[in-house]
Amino acid sequence: MADLLGSTRRTHHCGQLTKADAGTEVVLMGWIQRRRDHGGVIFIDLRDREGITQVVFNPEKNPTVHENAHGLRNEYVIGVRGTVEDRPDGMINPNLPTGAIEIAVHELKILNTAQTPPFQIEDTVDVSETIRLKNRHIDLRRNQLKENLITRHKTGTVVREYLNGLGFLDIETPVLTRSTPEGARDYLVPSRVNPGQFYALPQSPQLFKQLLMIAGFDRYYQIVKCFRDEDLRADRQPEFTQIDLEMSFVGEEDIMAVAEGMMAKVFKTIHGLDLPLPFPRMTYKEAMDRYGVDKPDIRFGLELRDVSDIVKASDFKVFADVVKKGGMVKSLNAKGCEGMSRKDIDDLTAFVAIYRAKGLAWIKVREDAWQSPIAKFFTDEEKQALTDRIQMAPGDLVFFVADQPGITNDALGNLRNHLGKKLSLIDEKLFNFLWVTHFPLMEYDEAEKRYQALHHPFTSPLEEDFERLESDPLGVISRAYDLVLNGSEIGGGSIRVHQRALQEKIFAALGLPREEYEEKFGFLLSALDSGAPPHGGMAFGFDRLVMILCGQQSIRDIIAFPKTQKAACLLTDAPSETSKKQLDELNLRIKPLAPQ
Ligand code: AMO
Ligand code: AMP
Repeated sequence: MADLLGSTRRTHHCGQLTKADAGTEVVLMGWIQRRRDHGGVIFIDLRDREGITQVVFNPEKNPTVHENAHGLRNEYVIGVRGTVEDRPDGMINPNLPTGAIEIAVHELKILNTAQTPPFQIEDTVDVSETIRLKNRHIDLRRNQLKENLITRHKTGTVVREYLNGLGFLDIETPVLTRSTPEGARDYLVPSRVNPGQFYALPQSPQLFKQLLMIAGFDRYYQIVKCFRDEDLRADRQPEFTQIDLEMSFVGEEDIMAVAEGMMAKVFKTIHGLDLPLPFPRMTYKEAMDRYGVDKPDIRFGLELRDVSDIVKASDFKVFADVVKKGGMVKSLNAKGCEGMSRKDIDDLTAFVAIYRAKGLAWIKVREDAWQSPIAKFFTDEEKQALTDRIQMAPGDLVFFVADQPGITNDALGNLRNHLGKKLSLIDEKLFNFLWVTHFPLMEYDEAEKRYQALHHPFTSPLEEDFERLESDPLGVISRAYDLVLNGSEIGGGSIRVHQRALQEKIFAALGLPREEYEEKFGFLLSALDSGAPPHGGMAFGFDRLVMILCGQQSIRDIIAFPKTQKAACLLTDAPSETSKKQLDELNLRIKPLAPQ
């Protein structure tokens, strides 16, 4: 046996052997998934990346090897040499590709032992995510995670093949760079050789890909890490991956066609599905009106209706006052939910409060009358108008939120998604794509008391809106587009500003003083001045796309080594404190931390 892993190599992997191989001598290597001692005969499920094969140690056929097999435990790494044999009738496992055979072992080598794993390597594990992330190398042995990473690999491969085929060049861009504003905080890296100075990790390669267009590369792509210090959620990571692309001499239609073709290819390869092209489109305004969010899940109805005009003169002061102050009253008709309990409604009221709604008014539509704390405030005409607008029918339960438009839409839009799940209105097998277009160029940030770019400041306004940049900045519509899949924003991009004068005007409209934008983006401005072609592009959230392809609920499950909500890697214990020596070299001093 000295030669197992000496000169000997595996002959097959653990998902490969079938009845056709019976009688062959083989060498397999892998991990012990399970060991069963059946009154003498020892059975082992040997696992590697490709599958599981049953190997058998029979005391009558080979007593020495059988004796050694007594010491084997789960997750030991072993090599076996043996003969492929048909399993006896009744022992065949039709669920396993190798289920008709087993290996009668005549040589065994323990390549390594293993501590008892902190959890079983099984599809469903009953341990906290913390334990799984601390032991990620073991967690990744589980089938689901392994399959997820294989799907991720396949998706990346198809994307590269597709873009290469269209003449896109894969070009790398720097990771140690200047701030690239995408709306999040930067991760900073101190420079040792330039004391007191910092690089920022890129929030995206946005400015570099524009510079590549200006350089004349025409079509660029990169599957690339981006870094954003923001509040994390189930679909956000501090470092995540984009499929980033940019094209010259194009308009929206060209980029959307490339994106649609890419999605079609990916879904065909991964799921064998033919996506209907082109994807439907909706303006930002329509999305907000009908769904309350800019990334609507259109797999189910429950659309919102604005009833401000109907209730503005009603006796229900809450509604009337909100409309008077420029607010908005919107409704959501939960069809057939009239039977919902008070407790359920209270829970939903608490749910909308998360989105700062001050209340959730409701009407239960009965055959004979409305049951509702607010019914008494409406005249017959108002009731009729509401019935028509909201299409109220007996059995329905209608909800209302009255507030500033932002809060009303946010609260009801999120309530809609919540009810879609709670009432099982979503067909989880569907993949519904939607383009959202015609976003406003800017929004007003109440907290910062200034205008902010809705996408990034390099997005072009519609040409007909150029002149309103100063007079009516909030009314300016941009040439940005987002790609939404099942209510998740999986990509976004825009046609860019390619002329210096317009870019300066936008910086000014965003309230950036000249010195500041010259200091931050002077290199871009002079590049725009050096013969910049019209260009545009987009970036897909690769992790989000793969998460949906894999049917997973968290992007942590499709990233090999993800971070927690607190942006920590539990496996390596990053981030961590550093030595005084390193701090000195970087010319940094840590302020004493406030007591926790
Ligand atoms: P944007 O900021 O919309 O656009 O990002 C593109 C896509 O990246 C995904 N995404 C994330 N995924 C996981 N974790 C995060 N923290 C995270 N943040 C964003 C989303 C999003 O749609 N430079 C522009 C693109 C362009 O204009 O070409 C950009 O980065 O799916
Ligand atoms: P009240 O007059 O405060 O008792 O409220 C009557 C009903 O209106 C309750 O069901 C409240 O939840 C609801 N309500 C109060 N404020 C709002 C609001 N801003 N939007 C929607 N419903 C509200």
